[in-house]
Amino acid sequence: MSCVVIVGAQWGDEGKGKIVDIYTEDAEIVVRYAGGPNAGHTLVVGDDKLVVRLLPSGILRPQTRCVLAQGMVIDPDVLLGEVDELIRRGHRDVEKRLCVSDRAHLILPYHVLVDTLREAAPGGIGTTKKGIGPAYEDKARRTGVRAGDLRDPVRLGQRIRAALEAWAPTIKHLGGEVPSAEEMLAKLEASTKRMVSLLANTSLIVDAAVREGKRVMLEGAQGTLLDIDHGTYPFVTSSSAVAGGASIGTGIGPNRISTVLGITKAYATRVGSGPFPTELNDGDGQHLREVGAEFGSVTGRPRRTGWLDLPALRYASRVNGIDGLALTKLDVLTGLSRIQVCIAYDTPEGRTEEFPIDYLDVPGVVKPVYQEMPGWSEKLDGVRVLDELPKAARNYVRFLEEAAKVPLFLLSVGPRRSETIVLHNPFVGRAAAP
Ligand code: GDP
Ligand code: IMO
Ligand code: MG
Repeated sequence: MSCVVIVGAQWGDEGKGKIVDIYTEDAEIVVRYAGGPNAGHTLVVGDDKLVVRLLPSGILRPQTRCVLAQGMVIDPDVLLGEVDELIRRGHRDVEKRLCVSDRAHLILPYHVLVDTLREAAPGGIGTTKKGIGPAYEDKARRTGVRAGDLRDPVRLGQRIRAALEAWAPTIKHLGGEVPSAEEMLAKLEASTKRMVSLLANTSLIVDAAVREGKRVMLEGAQGTLLDIDHGTYPFVTSSSAVAGGASIGTGIGPNRISTVLGITKAYATRVGSGPFPTELNDGDGQHLREVGAEFGSVTGRPRRTGWLDLPALRYASRVNGIDGLALTKLDVLTGLSRIQVCIAYDTPEGRTEEFPIDYLDVPGVVKPVYQEMPGWSEKLDGVRVLDELPKAARNYVRFLEEAAKVPLFLLSVGPRRSETIVLHNPFVGRAAAP
């Protein structure tokens, strides 16, 4: 049985897309289990770059079946736009390799409207304005429209009318205009037939694949610190991004998951508002943004940048049960004369090595404690084995691995497939000792 979860260990954009793409060379099914088009997962193959938002990052591997599972919220226009883009790029069989859970919730234009109006009002948290929060609110309020509702036009009309009635006071309060149900239905009609042809009971499909011993990859979106339960609430997304969410969002038992792989950058970034204790607003932060091309893959917003936070990484390791780490973007640190790593926090109760998440609501209450490490000037993109790393980079990696208390499965030194050192493949064999 090999069912591997890939989960972001920070605030998203850790490089999940690249790592899923690397390991799906050996996977038969890749499943997105949470989130929606707020995700932007970048795949670089040769000179081509593709950013997928709803499609699983296994989509470029021709042998891989791709599943959008029931924990997701799906905007039909975005999904079909992505499919068309892939067809345009020559991947003509995309729709044959794709299925969408009939229990996944739909993002409809009123969700995007509410998200956008809220962001324009005071108190916005810097969402991606893709309708994510309102769509999950509808799910929890039991006024959501599920993909399976597209099969029955009468039921679809009833569900949309009920949802619009529920949203009308909010939209008016925010100064917006309530769209008509007829307008929504007319818009949906254009995509209904294609969407219906993709629908399936994806829980059955994935469970059967796992039982048959197929290699299944469950692809997380966002990151642990954006998780609705375990993130820096309320500056979070509205879904269960953590590994536990993979079981619920896919519809398979937690005991079916064999490995949890956490992805972390060699530094930290965050998009949107919210606590970020190791944030840098100086030349080093600028270096990380420019060299790391840290601009949002969905919104283009400059990402906030900072030093790696080891207490946060250990926290992510705990709440996800991370078995192995993929460390990405080590190459971006080249050129910094010294590197800082947060190893602990000073809190009103003293020094702690735990991530002080409950203190983060008020800025300045906790202070990161840093360890300084020497930097290096050599480029890393040509490095293919750990021993080729400059000594300072090798020490940095070794230090992180020991402090995180999790073995390193993969090291990434550039965006391309070739710029990767795979130390362990969770689909093949056991992990080597660090
Ligand atoms: P995701 O949301 O976790 O899939 O990550 P994104 O795709 O939003 O952001 C990661 C960015 O870093 C993308 O532009 C990737 O192409 C790029 N990337 C991934 N791994 C590496 C790496 O090791 N080095 C460098 N320089 N870029 C990388
Ligand atoms: P991937 O999968 C980085 C952030 C937004 C905002 C907060 C809530 O590419 O790592 P939302 O639109 O979800 O309601 O916004 O979450 N956010 C992300 N940040 N990467 C992502 O996805 C994100 N998805 C949401 O910036 O702060
Ligand atoms: Mg991203």
